[in-house]
Amino acid sequence: MNNVIILAGGQGKRMKADMPKPMFKVLGEPMLEWVIKSCEDAGLSNICIVKGYMAEIIDNYIDGRYETVLQRERLGTGHAVMQAIPFMQKNIDGNTLVLCGDAPFIDEVTIKESLKLHEDENNSVTVITSMIDNPKGYGRIVRDGNSINSIVEEKDATIEQKQIHEVNSGAYWFKTADLIEYLGELTQNNSQGEYYLTDSLFIAINKGRRANAYLSENPNVVLGANDRKSLLALNDVARMEVISKHLENGVEFICTDGVIIGRDVKIGVGTEIKQGCTLLGNTIIGEDCTIGPNCLLNDTIVGNGTTLNSVQSNQAFIGNNVKIGPYVQLRPNSTIHSNVKIGDFVEIKNSTIGEGTAVAHLTYIGDSDVGKHVNFGCGCVTVNYDGKVKNRCVIGDNCFIGCNTNLIAPVRLGKGVYTGAGSTVTKDVPDFALAIERAPFKLKDGYSLRKLGDKAEK
Ligand code: UD1
Ligand code: CA
Repeated sequence: MNNVIILAGGQGKRMKADMPKPMFKVLGEPMLEWVIKSCEDAGLSNICIVKGYMAEIIDNYIDGRYETVLQRERLGTGHAVMQAIPFMQKNIDGNTLVLCGDAPFIDEVTIKESLKLHEDENNSVTVITSMIDNPKGYGRIVRDGNSINSIVEEKDATIEQKQIHEVNSGAYWFKTADLIEYLGELTQNNSQGEYYLTDSLFIAINKGRRANAYLSENPNVVLGANDRKSLLALNDVARMEVISKHLENGVEFICTDGVIIGRDVKIGVGTEIKQGCTLLGNTIIGEDCTIGPNCLLNDTIVGNGTTLNSVQSNQAFIGNNVKIGPYVQLRPNSTIHSNVKIGDFVEIKNSTIGEGTAVAHLTYIGDSDVGKHVNFGCGCVTVNYDGKVKNRCVIGDNCFIGCNTNLIAPVRLGKGVYTGAGSTVTKDVPDFALAIERAPFKLKDGYSLRKLGDKAEK
């Protein structure tokens, strides 16, 4: 079986933040997760992650999904791989893929094709490389005819070597047993005083073993984030790649300003995404919808023909031909059935809104089950929290909730119930009844004249 070691021990000092560098996000997902997913896509699941700086953050994130090993001191990429020797010894027969946790664009095809070359040529080590316009900062690939001679780090390179545009992606296939052997021979003899994993190539060649480079067709495989600027550049690359995939699938964008779409998001044909939309997680949007401007959707399912304008939604389900917005928040576990209309300044949490219901303005619905074809007036509140526990409101089909109604949960309104504007409803209401609760209306004639005195216009 083949092993994978993902290096995620680095601090990323230039990021200027207390976080392991591979945990910085590209399109809302840690770079480490991008690397893990590419391995999984390539059918590799025997993964060990080398953690170091703020290891507990990696532990919390990985949450036991994969083996991790701690690198106590950061003494270089070779030293990081050394920490995984016990992991490799469990599975010494096959090959080991070493990947950088801060280079998120390694892809399934590159992983599979480079393994093929590695096995076909019976290489001891195969380094994955890429040709890039600006190779500054990367290890340069020094070739020798058909094979490879060495990898020279920027800081150790001669002026001539700095002209080389083929660079080390930081990803390699090794014969596992050979890698363990090379790790034992690494030294700290270089300008940074580190154990360079790249030196293992030189060691292999000196032992007369075969080493070669696999030049990936994906120029982005080398891209890593060493500082905030390069992280932004990675986000831009990923962002436009996702958008172009959706364009090919028949999704409409007139302007992509501020549009960020996570790579697992699915969007149906004929849907338009307007400017300023962030669509994340496992969001799925149907066909012929209009989303935006300015929507933030996370793990939200949207049916067909639905319009969302300035909506923030997290873990909600929205049906077909629904109109929501502007300025609406849907919180987790909300289901909005088809043909519902939700207008401005409405918040819905942990509730079901039945088909054809209208919640037009300034309303809070929390922990409630609302039936079909209900009409909420302006400014209604389901009072779901008594200071200790949350309770539910149940509202039957065809109810008419007058403006500024408070429904004090737990409370149940039957079918076709009307509530008078301004009522506070504390008791269950049977089908087809009117609930009205108001203080008697008083009128004091000329009341303000005395107070206003001279200011009163007669
Ligand atoms: C490394 C390569 C370089 C290559 C580049 C690609 C070496 C010596 N150089 O350089 O040839 O072009 O990657 O991005 O390997 N890490 C640890 N522990 C450590 C040091 C690093 O876990 O002690 C991890 C980092 O978190 C990172 C990865 O290893 O994920 C690469 O380390 P980094 O310091 O970024 O290497 P580069 O100098 O970029
Ligand atoms: Ca790097």
